[in-house]
Amino acid sequence: MLTIALAKGRMQDDALALFARAGIIVAEEELKSRKLAVQSADQRFTFVFVKPGDVPTYVEYGVADAGVCGRDVLLEADSDVHEPLDLGFGYCKIAVAGRKEVVGQDYNLLATVRVATKYPKIATEYFHQRGIPIETIYLSGSVELAPILGLSDRIVDLVETGRTLKENGLEVIDVITETTARLIVNRASFHLKRDAVSTMIAELSAALHNQ
Ligand code: PRP
Repeated sequence: MLTIALAKGRMQDDALALFARAGIIVAEEELKSRKLAVQSADQRFTFVFVKPGDVPTYVEYGVADAGVCGRDVLLEADSDVHEPLDLGFGYCKIAVAGRKEVVGQDYNLLATVRVATKYPKIATEYFHQRGIPIETIYLSGSVELAPILGLSDRIVDLVETGRTLKENGLEVIDVITETTARLIVNRASFHLKRDAVSTMIAELSAALHNQ
């Protein structure tokens, strides 16, 4: 039996659909329930549904053998886990954005750039690599409000369709990197449960290639 931590929210359905294409199916009534842990029909897997940012924690500490979360979360968490598969779905850009008026503005005009973000580590690395001093302001959601209300000069956030930025009068200033969903595996499970983990990776790979 393997325990898999799945990010709740936008990736959950795509992740479960991929496991189903790989023959790993969770009954509809289980998914409709409010259970936070459900089993696959073949009893080979327990899926636990957790906040996206918590997936690497569950996997690194080994309470889940594997997990599915975005590369954005992995970059921010810097966890010591295996990352054997890019699952392809959940594509987004991680971008610096700001009000239209500040696009192209020289950062030197600001003593310190105030950056609101769910990704303080990614934001800090990006600006520090460019020698720009920043103050990060951590927000857990609706980050686009920060420059509108004057809380920050810029934001670092996910951009999928670009609609949220556009409808709030913001524009992308620079794309830091791109993100998709990744399969991650606990380092000990990778060795101690080698057969089960290898079989799962092979099944998911086959499902990805047969799309
Ligand atoms: C994410 C992200 C942006 C939005 C981007 O937020 O933080 O706000 O989606 O998507 P778009 O480019 O297609 O408009 P999410 O929906 O996860 O909610 P949150 O604001 O609570 O983080």
